[in-house]
Amino acid sequence: MNAIDLLEKQHREVEELFEEFESAGDGAKKTKERLCSKISDHLAVHAEIEEKLFYPEAKQEKTEDILRESVEEHLAMKRVLADILEGGTDDEQFMARMKVLQEQVEHHVEEEERELFPKVRKSCSKEELEDLGNRMETLAEELFAEGEPSKHVPDQTDHAPEI
Ligand SMILES: [Fe+2]
Repeated sequence: MNAIDLLEKQHREVEELFEEFESAGDGAKKTKERLCSKISDHLAVHAEIEEKLFYPEAKQEKTEDILRESVEEHLAMKRVLADILEGGTDDEQFMARMKVLQEQVEHHVEEEERELFPKVRKSCSKEELEDLGNRMETLAEELFAEGEPSKHVPDQTDHAPEI
């Protein structure tokens, strides 16, 4: 699958999960717990395949500034995510943290789709994007198969990864 199509598909999936979370009723504790861990795992996998595979491939003079901003945004998201995972759903800040996370994700997704992806589509061939997408899909499957991919997030909150 084309790498950018894959990332956009994942963006839509996470947006839908946040919408489901938002529309879960006040008392729907179990539903919120389930959706929160699904959102956490999806974001962890998404960040990992971008940082490990997509960003290095996308790196060039024209995208370097955007990518530096992107990894800082990932770091900010991971820090909120780590607080969510640590505090759990009973923490009185839980809903506020989920809201902040959602806003960060929306901003990040918007920027990638508006600024980064068009540049990468221009600089990479269809074949390159197809090959990259296949490798990203494989890594994503492996991370999900390992189970609970979000468990690594609290160890990734010191600094943004090198790109
Ligand atoms: Fe990203």
